[in-house]
Amino acid sequence: MCPPVMRGLRRRNVDFTPTLRQWRGGEKGQTMTASPSDRISIPSLRARKGTGEKIVALTAYDYAVASIVDAAGVDILLVGDSLGMVILGYENTLPVTMEDMIHHTKPVARAARRALVVGDMPFMSYHLSDEQAVANAGRFVKEGGAHAIKIEGSSPRRLRLIETLVEADIPVMGHVGLTPQSVVRLGGFKVQGTTPADARRILRDAQAVERAGAFAVIVECVPAETGGLITSHLSIPTIGIGAGPLCDGQIIVFHDLVGCHGGYLPKFVKMYADLHGVISDAVGRYRDDVRAGAFPGSEQSYHLKPEAARMLKRELGKPRSKKSGV
Ligand code: KIV
Repeated sequence: MCPPVMRGLRRRNVDFTPTLRQWRGGEKGQTMTASPSDRISIPSLRARKGTGEKIVALTAYDYAVASIVDAAGVDILLVGDSLGMVILGYENTLPVTMEDMIHHTKPVARAARRALVVGDMPFMSYHLSDEQAVANAGRFVKEGGAHAIKIEGSSPRRLRLIETLVEADIPVMGHVGLTPQSVVRLGGFKVQGTTPADARRILRDAQAVERAGAFAVIVECVPAETGGLITSHLSIPTIGIGAGPLCDGQIIVFHDLVGCHGGYLPKFVKMYADLHGVISDAVGRYRDDVRAGAFPGSEQSYHLKPEAARMLKRELGKPRSKKSGV
């Protein structure tokens, strides 16, 4: 079943949004398609470097949300291992498995008509050997339908792995600064690159990731000045999350953006909606209606033709007890 928003758009022969002029409404009953040339490609993202045209990225973990986010003109859908915390309720991303990731990448890839889909390689899916890493990255592309993968870190071994994956024709997005899979080593989710020495180290990390062949790099949780410095010293796009406004693009977790949980939000999140409030209110009203017998009403019920109802009543006679309700 397609989500209500897509059903509505399909019905209405829509000329999509002003920001997505290339999307045209189809004839009645047709689904909307983006032509292959509208698809965000890796060269088109790289070509934005230095032009000032920002890259807009968001996480997505399911078909309904990915359809909305893609149609809204977001350039990159990251199936982040943050799904471990946001969707699966873990304390951090470490327990997330390849099966979890493939399961969630498939519906996102099915929904994305324009955006580039990036699959986030989970903890221990690329740490054991190059063979293991290439096989798992290949699963994201072949089974999941992703266009690229993301891996965290910049150790010498990680850099060689980026080269190997690129060599295997699997595009790689890097990730430096706060790398959540290293949360235990880092001692928590803390701002990185706060001293000149640390900022220089993260810059060197990002440059090494670029040299290894990554097409873009996520820079997470560093001071805005450090984010700007890194951006100005790289020739691939930087996508910031808590890294200030000077990065070439921005990404945040979808559920943070729409305020879909009641818990702690990092400083770098701007909540654009309060879905937690909206959903709590809707569910509370549903609960009250069910308890009061006000839902379902006549409009939400199927009805027998009056003649058939009368016939049934005659046939079955009076209900034996009031409790039976027939
Ligand atoms: O897992 C994730 O969602 C991420 C982004 C927040 C960058 O890595």
